Amino acid sequence: MINIGVLISGSGTNLQSIIDEIEEGKISGRIRVVISNRKDAYGLIRAKKAGIEALYIDKKKFDSEEEFNRKIIEELSKREVELVVLAGYLSILSEEFIEKYKGRIINIHPSLIPSFCGKGCYGDRVHRMVLDRGVKLTGATVHFVDEGTDTGPIILQRAVEVKEDDTVESLKERVLKVEHQLLPEAIRLFCEGRLAIEGRKVRIK
Ligand code: GRF
Repeated sequence: MINIGVLISGSGTNLQSIIDEIEEGKISGRIRVVISNRKDAYGLIRAKKAGIEALYIDKKKFDSEEEFNRKIIEELSKREVELVVLAGYLSILSEEFIEKYKGRIINIHPSLIPSFCGKGCYGDRVHRMVLDRGVKLTGATVHFVDEGTDTGPIILQRAVEVKEDDTVESLKERVLKVEHQLLPEAIRLFCEGRLAIEGRKVRIK
């Protein structure tokens, strides 16, 4: 049974998809803690409703990113977390954090990496750029986190059609539905020990 820690900043619909699949017995893991850098993140409520410890950690209480990250590491270590999931987490992970959890941090991004990703490209902005560029396909990507932004080895991807009359909202909704399938699937594979990182690639055993 893998101990999972989930970092969030927003509504937590991805978190909810993980909670649901664990409750359905599809993932051999358990969420030991949900940590948010935003006090008003609805994901904290979702965690509490599921009986999961939910912590808001106020970055302003720390002198630096490093100190803030050290606090998160402390909370994760206390609960022997073995897999860190970033589910709409909008804050920097320090090098120390990434080093400590290398190969055990999974992120979900709402596009087909390497398109529409990187610094400053998150949330609704991703869908805005997709619509402005006029691509016919977008999608979702689940990847391991490395020192870069959205540059880690890709675990799973799934394409989503862009419709002519799409708005950011309609496209976001369609991509989110895929995210809610892809992220739990990647976590399930990780918990079953079926993800092998080979250089820049991930092989599913
Ligand atoms: C999702 O679109 C995810 O891809 C991105 O942030 C959003 C989080 O949504 N990283 P939610 O908080 O899980 O509903």
